[in-house]
Amino acid sequence: MVVFPAQRLRRLRRTETIRRLVQETKVEVRDLVYPLFVKEGMGITEEIPSMPGIFRFSPDRLPAEVEEIAGLNIPAVILFGIPEHKDETASMACHPEGIIQQAIRTIKKSVPELLVVSDVCLCEYTSHGHCGVISNGDVDNDKTLSFLAKTALSHAEAGADIVAPSDMMDGRVKIIRETLDRASYQNIPILAYSAKYASAFYGPFRDAAESSPRFGDRRSYQMDPPNVREALREVEEDINEGADMVMVKPALPYLDVISRVRAAFNHPLAAYNVSGEYAMVKAAARQGWLDEQRAITEILTAIKRAGADIIITYHAKDFARWSELMQGTI
Ligand code: PBG
Repeated sequence: MVVFPAQRLRRLRRTETIRRLVQETKVEVRDLVYPLFVKEGMGITEEIPSMPGIFRFSPDRLPAEVEEIAGLNIPAVILFGIPEHKDETASMACHPEGIIQQAIRTIKKSVPELLVVSDVCLCEYTSHGHCGVISNGDVDNDKTLSFLAKTALSHAEAGADIVAPSDMMDGRVKIIRETLDRASYQNIPILAYSAKYASAFYGPFRDAAESSPRFGDRRSYQMDPPNVREALREVEEDINEGADMVMVKPALPYLDVISRVRAAFNHPLAAYNVSGEYAMVKAAARQGWLDEQRAITEILTAIKRAGADIIITYHAKDFARWSELMQGTI
């Protein structure tokens, strides 16, 4: 057995070059997915107050934005829509001329190689702000399923590369898979938001997407933060229903969940570094309370080290810019 002084763990930390050589985890730009908020209208590029550096774009403003994203070698975007019209049954969620359907077509036309992931949920389209349709004051699981399936199908028809249901209804992956297959979209993968927690960290997103529930909260369908074994059951359910990839969300407060899912399943695993996690870093950095680049690099590395293959993050563009600057340095 080699012990001190023959063994000295500090030897491999002596210089930056040695440290890089033995680095176990490396976040790469190709691991990242950048979220985009798309709003109905013309000529809109408006910054989201609680998410500095993140904007709502109208479809006509998308080509320039996605060219920049692709130019930074970010492989994928995930889309969220802000419609003009909301109603009880989210009818604009699955409309062929809905905001997401327009956005998908626009993006695929301007940068065809950029992967478009579409978030499949009703909360941005319902007048009450819940992720499904309401019966007797609660979100009705089974009634919601057909609306979700129609929405996912309309995204595939518009040209989405991957559909990502984020509603947390039981059975949604199964019905979406069946619906896509019946319409000959058997090659469109499903990225399931499997372990999605009822989290305080979605606050800024709900401002951004105007999707706060008008009554109650999401705790009857999103997961309870204390539970991790239940997360494994959620992931198992989605995999059994046909999910191609699974997700844990949020990321930072749930690194243990990411790690447990990684150990228990072999499917590609995504983690969503959500709006509140982004807002905290931005706010502290603006005050000069932490070094933004180092903090973000550390956060993304931790998410990957925990076991995520794919990281959805609002920091993607900044990280990609820094990676470009770092290239070639030893
Ligand atoms: C839609 C959805 C939400 C997020 C992604 N998809 C909000 C929610 O469930 O309330 C949150 C993303 C973020 O906070 O960055 N259901």
